[in-house]
This record gives sequence, structure tokens and C-alpha cells, in this order.
Amino acid sequence: MAQTWTPESWRAKPILQVPTYPDQQVLEEVEARLRTYPPLVFAGEARALKKQLADVSEGKSFLLQGGDCAESFAEHGADTIRDFFRAFLQMAVVLTYGGSKPVVKVGRIAGQFAKPRSSDNETQDGVTLPSYRGDIINGIEFNETSRIPDPNRQEMAYRQSAATLNLLRAFAQGGFANLENVHRWMLGFVGDSPQRERYEAMADRISESMEFMRSIGITAENYAKLRETDFYTSHEALLLGYEEALTRVDSTSGDWYATSGHMIWIGDRTRQADHAHIEYCRGIKNPIGLKCGPSLQADDLINLIDILNPANEAGRITLIARFGHEKVAEHLPRLIRAVEREGKKVVWSCDPMHGNTITANGYKTRPFDRILSEVEQFFEIHRSEGTYPGGIHVEMTGKNVTECTGGARAVSADELQDRYHTHCDPRLNADQALELAFLIAENLKTDRNGNGEKKLAVNG
Ligand code: PEP
Ligand code: CO
Repeated sequence: MAQTWTPESWRAKPILQVPTYPDQQVLEEVEARLRTYPPLVFAGEARALKKQLADVSEGKSFLLQGGDCAESFAEHGADTIRDFFRAFLQMAVVLTYGGSKPVVKVGRIAGQFAKPRSSDNETQDGVTLPSYRGDIINGIEFNETSRIPDPNRQEMAYRQSAATLNLLRAFAQGGFANLENVHRWMLGFVGDSPQRERYEAMADRISESMEFMRSIGITAENYAKLRETDFYTSHEALLLGYEEALTRVDSTSGDWYATSGHMIWIGDRTRQADHAHIEYCRGIKNPIGLKCGPSLQADDLINLIDILNPANEAGRITLIARFGHEKVAEHLPRLIRAVEREGKKVVWSCDPMHGNTITANGYKTRPFDRILSEVEQFFEIHRSEGTYPGGIHVEMTGKNVTECTGGARAVSADELQDRYHTHCDPRLNADQALELAFLIAENLKTDRNGNGEKKLAVNG
């Protein structure tokens, strides 16, 4: 029988990817203060998201999850948040049209600060220092002082998350997310794109749908659904002391919720069944993401699902497949088959970023073609397994950065140095993100039209 869970029961388990704080007393004082601060999100919102994800698991909606690899204190500003949200909403509209289904919108934002690292140390010019682990833990500058984990950064991260979330809530409900605005921005993108002809047909059809709605009196002025949107936050629940301090009992249900974000996920490096991260996540009721990389065995996946979702509740588990374009065809089918065999209710989402990182000219980058290839294979595999490709998970920004190579306005390896701003992994810029959405929308349309025809042909 499972042992009693408490918000701190993870502390008795083995744990990976944790910082070593030099001063435990300061850490405890910070955690004590965080425990008294207001929750960032409410349990009812996390439940609403779980319900929307349950629809995704049943093939009725599509999940779009995206944002920074690592939020930073330096990039915290209204413009950054606004530009991200603008790009993200455009992606959502294009995907909604492509799939003819609602899109569940989840940002990697307002809490995405802590990073797992492949090495504990980093060496530059013969000097070795602790690795950067995200602004919530230490500083990115390569000097000894900045790399010492500082607990006070957790309060900075909490306050930044609160401010970011406040602006996002205003954007989502206050008119900025108005479908007519989003449509206009999208037309601007298509008009300027080197791939204009390819995207124009879909953009025109979206315009026609908008005009039709307007002509029968459905406008943003009189129809709230056209001027508001549901938007949720998510991050990797890596720094468990911080998560524990923001874990609260919901007075309505008596259940425990992480109130640091609506959805949290478990990284590919910290998903050991008997370790701390799984222990923490099993006890909270939020929707949970689980990163699935090449080393994940089918039996272990089923075991993890049993631990995290013993009641097999739809919407609780999102499996985020991140294999890389060369490995997805080898690994995804075996995991899909195990999940199907055991009748587990999950959302399958594709993270085409984390298995496709290479180094070029000394920069970590991701070629757009490989990202697209992994997404296309993800769709193709689900098509042949008869399962539902439920969503995508991307690292992106609304800014015109040069971090991933390729795309319609091809970023070359030589241009990476121009605007390479990420604090961790390379992100799609606004144009690349929207382009990816258009290409996925074409795929979703094929599934709606082409797949049915294929089946008819086989039967006939
Ligand atoms: C991430 O999502 O930024 C990440 C570190 O992913 P993964 O755990 O899949 O490597
Ligand atoms: Co990343």
C-alpha cells in the first residue's frame, strides 16, 4: 500500500538535480515566508484545466503548450510577456482552424525558472564553476559569486510569477485576446512571410469564417467568447522546496494542490519511480505532465502512471514525448502500445525541441527541419496506431531572436550570434513558432479530410 503522502514526504526520498545551498538557515527562512504568501493560482482553475485536458485525451480538443525554456529576471517586462502572448494566441487560432477543435492553451510561463542540467559543473577557459540552474537558484554570469545558489532568488521568482500572471490574466480577459485582433496580427504575419502563398489559402478561409460570423451578428462586442480566452500556466516542478511552500489545501475539496502554476510537469531526468519528484507529484491534484525520452521503458511508464494516477482519471496525465527526429519512430510506438494495452487515459503531446538540440558555431541550436520532422512523425505514428496526437509542447518567444536555425526566413548558423538571448535552450522565434503552427494545421486538416478518405478507400 502506498505510504502516507504529505507536502514534505518527498524529503525522505532520493533526489536528483538539486542545488546545494551554503546556508540552510537562510533557505528555511525563505521557505517559511513563501508558505505565508498568497497562492498564485486556485484549485478550481487547475480543475478546470484538468477537465479541458480530459477532452483532449478523448480527441475533442488539442493542447498547445509553449513558452520559454527558462524565464529570466533580466527579460521580465511587459513587452516580453505581450509579444509571447501575441505569438502564442496566433498559433492557437491557426491550430483551432486546422483541427476544427478547441485549443487548450497552456504557457510555459509565470513559474518556469528551475533547470535540470546534464552536468553539475561548467568549465570555461580552465575555470570550473557550478552550472547555472535557472534564475530561481543562481545567476547565469560565469563568476563564483553569481553561481552560488541563493535562496532569496525564490522570492524574486515568486514575485515575478505573480506579476507575469497578473498581466496575462488582464490580457486574456481584458480585450487584448480578442479574436479580431489575433486574426489581424495573423494576416500581418502571412502578408510578410516568404511562404505567403502557402499560408494564404488557410488565412483567407479563416477571414471568410470571421466575416460570416460578423454577418450573422456574432462579434467580439456582443459575444464574450470572441474577446476572452482561457489561458493556463505551467512549469517543471523541479525545485521541490519552493513547490512544497506553495502547496495548499483546497477548502472546497479538502485536496492538496500545487498553487505555483495550473499544470506542472516532471522532467526526463527526474522521473525515477522511487525518487522525490514522483513522490511530490503523486499527492497533488493538478494536471501533471511527464516527459518521455528514449530511456523510458514501457513497464516503467505504466508503473509511473499507476503511481501518479491510480484512479485512471482523464486529464490528469499528459505524456510529453521528446525523443528527437531520429528516435521518435523507434520509441513512441512501444510506449503508445503499452498505454493502449493497459487502457490508461492520457494526453499524448509532442515536444519536438529537447531531442533535437545540436551545437553549431559554439551555440546550442535546433534546426527547424528536425523540429518539424519530429512533429510530422508524431502525427504519422498516431495515425498508424489509431491513437490521438493530442498536442504540442514548444520552447518559443514572441521576440525576433536567432536561436533555432532554419524556418521560412532562414536563420543561418552564422546568424545565431546576432540575437541569441536564451538563458538555457534555443527557442523558436515568433515567425518560426507561427510557421510551425501553420504546418501542423495542414497536418490536422489532412487528418480530418484525408484520413477519412483513406479509410473509405480501404473499405471500398
Ligand atoms: C525542458 O522542458 O526544458 C526540459 C529540460 O526538458 P526535458 O526534461 O524533457 O529534458
Ligand atoms: Co528546455
